[in-house]
Amino acid sequence: LRHFLTTEGLPRELLTEILDTADSFVDMSQQQVKKVPLLRGKTVANLFFENSTRTLSTFELAAKRLSADVLNLNINTSSTKKGETLKDTLMTLEAMHADMFVVRHADSGAAHFIAQHVTPNVAVINAGDGRHAHPTQAMLDMLTIRRHKGDFAPLTVAIVGDILHSRVARSQIHALRTLGAGEIRVIAPKTLLPRHIEALGVKVYTDMAMGLRDVDVIMMLRLQKERMQSALLPSESEFYKLYGLNRDKLAYAKPDAVVMHPGPINRGVEIESEVADGPRSLILDQVTNGIAVRMAVMSKAMGGQMAQRGELSQEEQ
Ligand code: CP
Repeated sequence: LRHFLTTEGLPRELLTEILDTADSFVDMSQQQVKKVPLLRGKTVANLFFENSTRTLSTFELAAKRLSADVLNLNINTSSTKKGETLKDTLMTLEAMHADMFVVRHADSGAAHFIAQHVTPNVAVINAGDGRHAHPTQAMLDMLTIRRHKGDFAPLTVAIVGDILHSRVARSQIHALRTLGAGEIRVIAPKTLLPRHIEALGVKVYTDMAMGLRDVDVIMMLRLQKERMQSALLPSESEFYKLYGLNRDKLAYAKPDAVVMHPGPINRGVEIESEVADGPRSLILDQVTNGIAVRMAVMSKAMGGQMAQRGELSQEEQ
């Protein structure tokens, strides 16, 4: 693995290895992510052209736990605002010997474009491009599911909400299929479903009562207004009435069904606080799992032979 741009088409062995490696970074007795020297001497540049809380912070923490030097370029105060092109920005950072670019961009395909233009020793990780892909989010979601449910094969997983604009949903569907999830459903109003979504191997529902029946895992999604034309914005109250996850709708799923959401959540729009903060919610576990998963992806992209190079001594930490 050099670049990590999508979950689509990646082999099951690789996805499983990423999950196993992420698990290996966690000290189970202390529930802490260990600090390891795998990326010592490497420089990771975080280039976020779109806002982020979870992804940017956990990539930074993950890089630091791998002992890398981390450079967070503040795009809003950078020379891109003076007209510098993306390619020139990349070349400038390469001249500073950056070894890895972690990229979030509003344009679908931006991470692929960057991967095509970097020098051969630089790795590119996609931290979300337009409505296309968010592969590390999908992998941290897979880790969260595996930790709570074990095997993927018996699971029915429902992805609910704005599927049309969601890079998370696309990456989740590819990862779930590859890892062998029993059944994948999407539940959304027709206006928020991509055309031909069935071709991805999912069952489509427009009704929560039908779609959530006997489901093991519910993945809620935010209405991604930043990618919608304003004239087509759905009414939040209408959306909540039909698709917002509250206690009553959760009762359609299995009694031990878990609730997930990539965040940021909009309380009272796609999810009720009682559910988001309730005992079946894994939303904050997802955030925590993002650190170990991003460590696993970054160390693989740098060619790391994980778990073979040991841990830092006390002094090194
Ligand atoms: N899930 C996710 O990508 O969150 P952020 O936008 O806060 O990074």
